[in-house]
Amino acid sequence: MRIGLLGCGNVGAAFVKLVNERAAAIAERTGITLSIVKVAVREPKADRGLALPAGVLVTDVNAVVEDPNVDLIVEVMGGISPAREAITAALGKGKPVVTANKALLAETGAEMFGVADATGVDLLFEAAVAGGIPFIRPLRESLRGEPIGRVMGIVNGTTNFILTKMTEEGADYGDVLREAQRLGFAEADPTADVEAFDAASKCAIIASIAFAADVRASDVHREGITTVTAADIAVARRLGYVIKLLAIAERTNGSNQLSVRVHPAMVPVTHPLASVREAYNAVFVEGAAVGSLMFYGRGAGGDPTASAVLGDVIDAAINLKKGTHATLGTFTRPAFTPIDDTTSEYLLSLEVLDQPGVLHAITGVFAKHGVSIRAAEQVGIGENARLVFITHSAREASVQQCLADFAGLGVVKNADGFIRVVGR
Ligand SMILES: NC(=O)c1ccc[n+]([C@@H]2O[C@H](COP(=O)([O-])OP(=O)(O)OC[C@H]3O[C@@H](n4cnc5c(N)ncnc54)[C@H](OP(=O)(O)O)[C@@H]3O)[C@@H](O)[C@H]2O)c1
Repeated sequence: MRIGLLGCGNVGAAFVKLVNERAAAIAERTGITLSIVKVAVREPKADRGLALPAGVLVTDVNAVVEDPNVDLIVEVMGGISPAREAITAALGKGKPVVTANKALLAETGAEMFGVADATGVDLLFEAAVAGGIPFIRPLRESLRGEPIGRVMGIVNGTTNFILTKMTEEGADYGDVLREAQRLGFAEADPTADVEAFDAASKCAIIASIAFAADVRASDVHREGITTVTAADIAVARRLGYVIKLLAIAERTNGSNQLSVRVHPAMVPVTHPLASVREAYNAVFVEGAAVGSLMFYGRGAGGDPTASAVLGDVIDAAINLKKGTHATLGTFTRPAFTPIDDTTSEYLLSLEVLDQPGVLHAITGVFAKHGVSIRAAEQVGIGENARLVFITHSAREASVQQCLADFAGLGVVKNADGFIRVVGR
């Protein structure tokens, strides 16, 4: 099986090394000999720590896709173009494609899956969500007969690393971000991670596969972690919760709609997702008969991601040899539940004046908007008094109306402490 590789950066170079190390063992086990015959990069002179034969490295992506000596394409360049055109062309030529490109699939997944089905070759993408964790295939194949109600994932290692450090060291967001950048867990420009663009792309792909729906990154309600404070985390901890950035895809409104969202959430310490620390990822799936499942491991990094790519390559090679391919089915546009119409429990932490009548005024607002309170406590006294409430399950729009009204009460100095409670 002659492989054409598009991109040879973190993932691509790790993939080349894995193939070199394991080709003999894979051939013995599967009867398929893998070889990398052409590699497209931007800068062929860059040192990649690889001993590639002369003539293998090229700068023209099409030269790899069109090469009659290439049987199968691995796309690990990233970005929309030229990856989209290259994958479409390869599938059109009957060449299976393995990709790790979450940005592309979160924009054009349904289109790409349609092309793959029409051409009758594989488009496999285990590495695109949660790096080395085998989770897409179980969702697509093992759980095919299982109506999935909800999938919740910790799918961004950088933000989980930051939140873990904030939780365990009581440190502030800015300090931990700088430490994460120094250790290589966060990019110099961390926006894609901390503002949850990366997690939103992965949420869209998860929702597409779990619900056979055409879900795109722009459909996903997105809130990052930049507003989470050490004080929020301390309050959550005292009440028995940890704060995690969750990607949530769930059936709503009697299963007629989907809610897709990424936001910080308070998760009970007893929930399996609460134990996912540092840069690890996990995906928690709730099925009807199977109950709860959790997939856990390294969600990024060259080696884990290349491992997922290699598994897909072997599958695609076996399928190509047999003249078969994995079916992806049809993906139709679903109706989405706006965030305002979702329901959740909420933690509200209000900085208040320490004077008689404050609690009465606040509970009056809750009553006006039909939000009932599960727990309440006062933290601090005098100037530092804070009232902390956890609501029963309430509609998001009602809770937002409460927050707007609190701001106008006079006795509430600050009503910024707002976080959804998930997984109780
Ligand atoms: N890194 C991870 O942990 C991880 C995890 C899961 C999924 N992924 C996905 O895997 C893909 C690759 O990630 P990465 O971290 O390996 O990226 P990377 O280190 O930036 O590597 C990208 C590679 O693609 C090449 N390239 C980019 N545009 C090209 C073009 N127009 N023509 C030819 N070559 C081009 C680059 O060439 P030069 O080397 O010459 O610049 C480089 O070799 C992305 O889709 C990413 O989202 C990555």
